[in-house]
Amino acid sequence: MALGLETADGMNPYEAYFEFALDALILIDQQGHIVRTNSAFHRLFGYLPSELQGKPVEVVVPERLRARHREHRRLYMKSPHNRPIGLNLNLAARRKDGTEFPVEIGLTYAEGTNGAYVICNITDISGRLAREADDRRREALTMLGTTVAGIAHDLNNPLSVIISRAELLLMPGTELVGQTRADVEVIYRHARRASRIIQDLLALTRQDPKPHEVVNLNDVVGRAVLLVESQMLREGKKVLADLATDLPAMMGNPVSLEQALVNLLSNAHDAIGPGGSVTVKTARSEHQADWLELVVSDNGCGIPAEAMSKLFTFLYTTKPGGTGLGLWLARRTTIEHGGTIEVYSKAGEGSTFVLRFPAAPSIHAASAPSSTAS
Ligand SMILES: Nc1ncnc2c1ncn2[C@@H]1O[C@H](COP(=O)(O)OP(=O)(O)O)[C@@H](O)[C@H]1O
Ligand SMILES: [Mg+2]
Repeated sequence: MALGLETADGMNPYEAYFEFALDALILIDQQGHIVRTNSAFHRLFGYLPSELQGKPVEVVVPERLRARHREHRRLYMKSPHNRPIGLNLNLAARRKDGTEFPVEIGLTYAEGTNGAYVICNITDISGRLAREADDRRREALTMLGTTVAGIAHDLNNPLSVIISRAELLLMPGTELVGQTRADVEVIYRHARRASRIIQDLLALTRQDPKPHEVVNLNDVVGRAVLLVESQMLREGKKVLADLATDLPAMMGNPVSLEQALVNLLSNAHDAIGPGGSVTVKTARSEHQADWLELVVSDNGCGIPAEAMSKLFTFLYTTKPGGTGLGLWLARRTTIEHGGTIEVYSKAGEGSTFVLRFPAAPSIHAASAPSSTAS
């Protein structure tokens, strides 16, 4: 391989290129024995320089592929030519420690003074394959998200009709009595549940936070309580609102905040039995100036100590028909509002969720709509 191209400092640029090339390189002779390997090869395969000299090249091929590789090599040597191999072939290489990784390989054939050689340049493509798999997964998720959002949106309208008709039928003073009233109540309860799941799915597939505006948190509480209270009353459960009259305004999205609160109320509703109650309280924070507090407490079943750390985990649920989305979404909404969420609970003694939000800058507070909830 002496090409007579040494530079003034005695370095052969071809040697230098071989040694320091980015790709892992192996020089093999016509019989498939390793003549030389470069630095990138040693880094990638975990061998020391010269450790493989004279060994058949199949040592770097996984055992299960060696026989096939030998056959390919024999055929190649019969009519050698420069070519890439491995594109779309799922080729694998084997490190010294026995682990495998996917590769693409280029073959360069060279006639030297002492016979023919083949230089194999080996590219580790595990990073690229992982990125491609990630892209495919992301694409599939985006498509799934769009489909789910479409279906959820289409289901919303018929469900709203079912809910409002059932609400009319259940109004006090209607002719609905006995078993029929009980059945409509069941229809209403399940339609409400389906509607909440749909709202959660829509929130889940949403990419960007909803736009923020000046919000009076008491109004949000008023609307959320209105949504849940008739059903709770019919089940002998109470929901109480304890709203601060001096509550500063906050910046936020009223729909997202209402949904987060409805999720907390619906959990409280599930946790209490007949005779149980839920209280929603708003207040100026006593601990942080210019912060608001929203506290939802119930006297229901409480949360066992071992479950506390899992509550806000995506899809965590202990309910047979639960989705495990409610608290995850409530936490996401809280964070999107620059706030915090904490939970205090003891099994058998009820639970308290405390959400804290920064107040809007005072210029907004002055123009916040006044509370109509009571
Ligand atoms: N107020 C509460 N009282 C008791 N357990 C609760 C309360 N809120 C949440 N949990 C527990 O947290 C879990 C997760 O709640 P959530 O994310 O809303 O999902 P889901 O209501 O669909 O189960 C519930 O399954 C329940 O075990
Ligand atoms: Mg829930």
